[in-house]
This record gives sequence, structure tokens and C-alpha cells, in this order.
Amino acid sequence: MSQEGRNRFGLDVGTSRIVLARRSGEEYQFDSQLNAFVSIPWSKLTCEVLEKERIPHARSDGQILVFGDASERFADLLHTETRRPMLEGALNPEEPEGLSVVRAIVELLTGGLERKGSKLCYSIPAPPVGSPDAFKFHRVALAQMLEELGFEVRSLEEGLAVIFAELADFNYTGIGVSLGAGLTNVCLAYLSVPVVSFSLPKAGDHVDAGAAAAAGEVATRVRVLKEQYFSLNGLSSDRLPGKLRQALRVFYDDLIRGVIEAMQEAFEQQRALPRLNRPLPLVLAGGTALVPGFRDRFEHALRQTDFPLRVSEIRLAADPLHAPAKGALVAALADM
Ligand SMILES: Nc1ncnc2c1ncn2[C@@H]1O[C@H](COP(=O)(O)OP(=O)(O)OP(=O)(O)O)[C@@H](O)[C@H]1O
Ligand SMILES: [Mg+2]
Repeated sequence: MSQEGRNRFGLDVGTSRIVLARRSGEEYQFDSQLNAFVSIPWSKLTCEVLEKERIPHARSDGQILVFGDASERFADLLHTETRRPMLEGALNPEEPEGLSVVRAIVELLTGGLERKGSKLCYSIPAPPVGSPDAFKFHRVALAQMLEELGFEVRSLEEGLAVIFAELADFNYTGIGVSLGAGLTNVCLAYLSVPVVSFSLPKAGDHVDAGAAAAAGEVATRVRVLKEQYFSLNGLSSDRLPGKLRQALRVFYDDLIRGVIEAMQEAFEQQRALPRLNRPLPLVLAGGTALVPGFRDRFEHALRQTDFPLRVSEIRLAADPLHAPAKGALVAALADM
């Protein structure tokens, strides 16, 4: 491993998961943790047991916060929902523990690695159309926290990160779409320069909440069933109740339609740009694109519209869940 690659990291701070990417020889290596926590009353005994079992936790205001992947198990055990530091792509203002939990998760992911002076590029959501400052607090608060940990940081919009991860063969020209939990991020780039980027607050959480309300379920259970059994190619497992299957289809179609319409509007003004006249590749990434049949459904819907730019191919990222973190690492390796 080169000395260069060793002290560079890509970090995707997602509403659902936080992913760290780093180079290991010629390979990319990814580690991730759920961006969630539960709080339990503080007691010395509980702390000692958690210590002994090596369950990541922190102390805060008379509470113990169990965070990351372990939080889901604890929530199950305690019949409660996990709490989430982020909502719709950014730190949740209603969750006072948000930033300290994200920090604890980053410390967990980078435990044992050299932080001081290492270069780290982290993903941020692009602002929604018309609200350029929407994520300013989120971006700056994360930068400060990461600098306190010793990193030299820069941020990168998530849609562009997908392009950096996937479109090297096209000189980073094309459209990157990351469909996550809280947000869908879109970027149109020409030779690695973002021309248009935006986010919209519609992604997996929107599908879960909508389908849950329609089928009389709770969103957490819908998410678990969706991830295990749902598919958009007509091959959903029988283990998915019929009503829920139908509701998931409705909300997935609504999401796909919403993303395509938002792209049409945002790209409309770019139609006249001669340099974007050649057909462009479009890459789909993020956990919400993992449902079998998603790419086909997306392509079918897009080809039916009068899309303002010519799209040559629509493909799924090689590793949809890790593409934004990989793109952030590509940026950190390239030019920091
Ligand atoms: N195998 C799967 N099938 C269907 N959906 C999945 C699957 N795995 C994850 N998801 C969904 O993907 C979403 C999480 O995706 P991802 O990890 O890309 O989001 P994130 O980056 O944390 O969030 P965001 O980018 O919105 O801040 C969740 O809604 C989750 O339910
Ligand atoms: Mg994401």
C-alpha cells in the first residue's frame, strides 16, 4: 500500500448509514455503521457489561447511548424505535445528541487508523432547488467535528460522488443519482465539473412511510420487509402481504416519477448547451436503488418522457450502497 493512500479517507454521512472508504492495496475497503442510537438509563453495571461485550456506547446526561449497528438489536430488545441523528439528509435539529452520535460513529469507524493530518472527503447533500443554504449548518458542523478529530477535510456533493465512483471511463461526464433513505441526490457533471446538482426529500423513508400508512403497518417493519422481500420485477416473495406489496409499488413508482420530473425541470435550461449534446450515461446508486427491477422500471419511466438531455445508458452502480463513499475517496486521493 502506498503511503499516499493510507492517510486518505472517503466518508459518506447518510441518513441511514455512515460509510468509510479507504484504500487497501489496489482495492477499496468499506466499513459502515447504522446512523442510529438508543438511550438507556445510566448505571455502572450496564456500562461495565457493555464494555465487556465490546458494544459501542457513550455516556451523555445520565444516559448511555448505544450507537451504530448494535442500536438496532437494543431497540428490538427494548421494544422501542432507534433514534436517528439525521433526518432527510442532514443533522436533525430536533435531536440534540445528533452530532455527538455521528462523531462517536466516525470515531468507531476510524478507530485504530491514523486520523491526525489524514485527508478526508465527506459527502454532503446538494441543496434543494431554490434553497441554496439549506444544508449549511450540517456541512459546517460536520467539518468542525471532523477537524476536531484531526482530519484535514473537504466536502463533496453526493451526486457528484457517484459520478466520481462510477464514470471514470466517461471522463466524469454524465448524471449521478443517489437514492438513499432521506434524500435523492442528483448531479449532472461535465468533465468532473458539476453543472447542475440538487436534492429532493423523497427516497426510501418516503416509500416506507407512505406504504406503512396505506397498509396499516409501522414504517420500521415495512423497511425490514421491503429490504428482504420486495421486488419491482413482479417476483416479490409471498412473505410480503399483498396489500403492502401493492402499496410499496405505488410509492416506488411515485418516487421514480418524482425524481424524473425534478431532473426534467432542473435540466431544461441545459438543453441548449452544445457540450452536453452527446448522449450521457446515467448511474443509479444508493440503497433505494437495490430493489430488484429498479433500474428497468426507472429506464422505462424515463424513456416515456420527453427528457431534455439524451441519455445513452442507465446503469446501476457496481456497489450501490458504497458508491458515494468510494467517490469521496476518489476525490480525497485525487486533489487534496
Ligand atoms: N436490499 C435493499 N432493498 C431495498 N431497499 C434497501 C435495501 N438496502 C437498503 N435499502 C434502503 O435504502 C435506504 C438506505 O440507503 P442508503 O444507505 O444509500 O441511504 P443513506 O445514504 O444513509 O441516506 P441519504 O443519502 O438519504 O442521507 C433505506 O431506505 C433502506 O431501506
Ligand atoms: Mg446517501
